[in-house]
Amino acid sequence: MCGIVAYVGSKPAQALLIEGLKRLEYRGYDSAGIAVMHAGRATVVKKAGRVANLEAELASRGPLAGTMGMAHTRWATHGGVTDLNAHPHRDDKAGIVVIHNGIIENYASLKTYLMDKGHRFVSETDTEVLAMLIGELYEGGEGGLEAAVQAALREVTGAYAICVMCEKEPDTLVVARKGAPLMVGIGAGEYVVASDASAIVAHTTQAFPLDDYNVVRITRNGFRTSTTTNVAVTPKVMQLELDLEQIELGRFEHFMQKEIFEQPAALRNTMRGRLQAEDGKVVLGGLSALAKQLVRSRRVILTGQGTALHAATIGEYLLEDLAKVPAHAEYASEFRYRNPIIEDQTVVVAVSQSGETADTLAALQEAKDRGALALGVVNVVGSSIARETDAGVYLRVGPEIGVASTKAFTGQVAVLALISLFLARRRYMSADQCAAMIREMQSIPGKIERVLEQDERIKKVAEKYCERENWLFLGRGYNYPTALEGALKLKEISYIHAEGMPAAEMKHGPIALINDGMPAVFIANKGRQYDKVLNNISEVRARGGHVIAVATEGDAEIGKVAEDVIYVPEIDEPLSPMVTVVPLQLIAYHAAVLRGHDVDKPRNLAKSVTVE
Ligand code: F6R
Repeated sequence: MCGIVAYVGSKPAQALLIEGLKRLEYRGYDSAGIAVMHAGRATVVKKAGRVANLEAELASRGPLAGTMGMAHTRWATHGGVTDLNAHPHRDDKAGIVVIHNGIIENYASLKTYLMDKGHRFVSETDTEVLAMLIGELYEGGEGGLEAAVQAALREVTGAYAICVMCEKEPDTLVVARKGAPLMVGIGAGEYVVASDASAIVAHTTQAFPLDDYNVVRITRNGFRTSTTTNVAVTPKVMQLELDLEQIELGRFEHFMQKEIFEQPAALRNTMRGRLQAEDGKVVLGGLSALAKQLVRSRRVILTGQGTALHAATIGEYLLEDLAKVPAHAEYASEFRYRNPIIEDQTVVVAVSQSGETADTLAALQEAKDRGALALGVVNVVGSSIARETDAGVYLRVGPEIGVASTKAFTGQVAVLALISLFLARRRYMSADQCAAMIREMQSIPGKIERVLEQDERIKKVAEKYCERENWLFLGRGYNYPTALEGALKLKEISYIHAEGMPAAEMKHGPIALINDGMPAVFIANKGRQYDKVLNNISEVRARGGHVIAVATEGDAEIGKVAEDVIYVPEIDEPLSPMVTVVPLQLIAYHAAVLRGHDVDKPRNLAKSVTVE
């Protein structure tokens, strides 16, 4: 949840690190800090608030000299948002400086041990405990820092991605990982370490991700990778497939807006090479080796958090409806702790944009330990979840930088639809039926484009209601999870209270909330339960609520009952959430902008929740 970038080379480190921090700011933005090594001294500067605050502080001091350093953007876990709690942290003995992403779970007992040894702490963070522990274990000599980091990490429980420098070894950077992402970019005579590729690609496209318990010692002359028990490891260097253009705003004002508008292109990419309409076939390279096992599966459990769980819930409907395999979707955070029963031939599908969500990863591991076959529906290539699964299908929607997930949601639904068709065709679906569904899938990007053309009109709807503090989002069937997603989008970036639920559930209590002027967004496109949705709309209207309906083009009835209608093209119900969600994303986006919020950095949130 924090961003890490470090540099070892011959260029001035400060500018490069600040540029990297800006690219990583979406991962956490409570505070930021930098340490640069020069002439055997590490200078640390850190500030609460955005990277801009740190830049202003650096500007007032004059640039830090040095060609090796590290920087951090924080999302607070232990200790409030203060300059002191910002990273880097130092020890009080050996000249150690540390930045850290993750949580040291046994930090309290380690802190007591270190205090008994005479160490004095200045912050409330678990990271300072780690810095002190490394300092306590540092014995100097060749490879001293590497050995101290390995020894400290053997004492630690929890999750970490760390970078460590030591004033006594001013040419060495040691980095390590367990349960939080970190990769090393290899340039010409230089190395850029970062928590994600976006801070590396401007410098090099050759990189290797660290595995859990890997420790890398880097100098300008090369690097050595080992485990925390000092067993040498050969890293797998790969080519980063990321263009700078993909991580820049271009003509858009916010990444969230850019990513909403990218959805047609992103989905075309998701489907590219995977659909064969003429043969009624779905080709998923990632699953082909396991096809027989998957076809015989008796049960599918889909798991994830937040937006990913909403997509997983649509996946549950798709798998049962199309592939006729019993399926259910469940919060990973609940699944992992509730002693779930995993019967023979169960498949677990972890749905995650980042591939790093701690609860989703843990749920996946729990299901695997209990004998399930593990599949991943993940966006970030080589992420922890992607590596932990037996097989999977990547979203291929490109990097998602806006904290509110948009194109990943439609990508997740698209991939789950592909997996459902892949299984359906091998179980009960005829080639003709599958071909018809494939053609419908192929029409989705064009249909989303037609919704995006209505952006100005949707903005007007947002304008009309954005001052209201309570909203309802209601849908049935496949669009019940869409309602949940619409409510989540609105609340996370506009801070409006919004609840999503099945439209029928409203009568079982929430209807009491409806008063004069409360906006209720209904997903009311044509489908099996359309008439029932119309009834629910009337019930809201009768109590003074304002109805905004997302309806099918050509629907003449809906205008008679809803005040505001946003029309979407006709689409088969199982695939409709990929289209009906788009107006909801745009309403949330415009409402948040109109209320003056920083859409890409909503309060209290960060992209990728790597703590439970
Ligand atoms: C909401 C949002 C979150 C994520 C959730 C899971 O807009 O972004 O709810 O969907 O934290 O994240 P991933 O998909 O990375 O596992």
